[in-house]
Amino acid sequence: MKVTSYQQHLLSDIERLTAFYEAIHKKSKGIIYDLGTGSGVFSSWAAPLAHFVYAVEKDPFTAKLAKKNLKPFKNVSLIVNNAQNIIFPENADLIICEMMDTALIDEEQVPVLNSVRKYLNKNGEIIPCGVFNGVEAVHVNTAHPSYQEGRTPQHELMSRLIIYDQIDFKKYIKENVAFRIPISINKQGTVSGIKITTFTLLTPQLICGPTPMMNPPLLIPTNKLKVRNGENIILNLEYSMGGGLDTIRASIERIS
Ligand SMILES: C[S@@+](CC[C@H](N)C(=O)[O-])C[C@H]1O[C@@H](n2cnc3c(N)ncnc32)[C@H](O)[C@@H]1O
Repeated sequence: MKVTSYQQHLLSDIERLTAFYEAIHKKSKGIIYDLGTGSGVFSSWAAPLAHFVYAVEKDPFTAKLAKKNLKPFKNVSLIVNNAQNIIFPENADLIICEMMDTALIDEEQVPVLNSVRKYLNKNGEIIPCGVFNGVEAVHVNTAHPSYQEGRTPQHELMSRLIIYDQIDFKKYIKENVAFRIPISINKQGTVSGIKITTFTLLTPQLICGPTPMMNPPLLIPTNKLKVRNGENIILNLEYSMGGGLDTIRASIERIS
């Protein structure tokens, strides 16, 4: 398979690939859309099990790669366009869409699914089928939202993980969201940030945590608050799904 370095990194993430492979193998049938096909890897797995696959890629350079890799498959059509602009000639039994990002903020998963979902047959399925987002209060020194890579940025957990949002990709998803999350502090110190962790449901039975190339935990700075063990505080969190990291607003406050 021909690859660019970004696509190579995606293809080196065995945990991510294994989870998608299992889901695609289980669910592929009939008419399939593979939105954001990249190197074409998911279409190449789905094609032998499908009647027809529409592989969609908006980046023309990446699409050249998909074209080479998908050449052997006679039942795959590559469409080079933004998935939101396409009028599909037939409905889908399965939509595969991997434009995932932590809390779905920095990639187009949500706007794309909100515009393409109307083409999904009534009993059709989506891979992944949804996400759970969790949040923890942390002590962290970072000037802007940063994805965790190994131990960087260094941080100290100040609470347990709370699931604050659950998203079902088959239903309309509100893109601009605001949460007010009560959280119990379990350590004395200073809270200065929020950590978001996203769990991906490939199928209702197959859940995948963060992998190196899919949804690494996101550390977001907030105002600073001195806290006691056992104290309850409020995390305020706003963002636009698909709007990018600049749309994030995060702060913490005491419960008055
Ligand atoms: C995370 S990569 C996934 C690539 C491949 N499916 C894989 O999992 O290895 C997301 C791909 O979606 C493409 N993409 C992002 N937004 C898109 C959109 N609105 N329409 C079509 N393709 C898009 C990107 O160019 C990129 O190639």
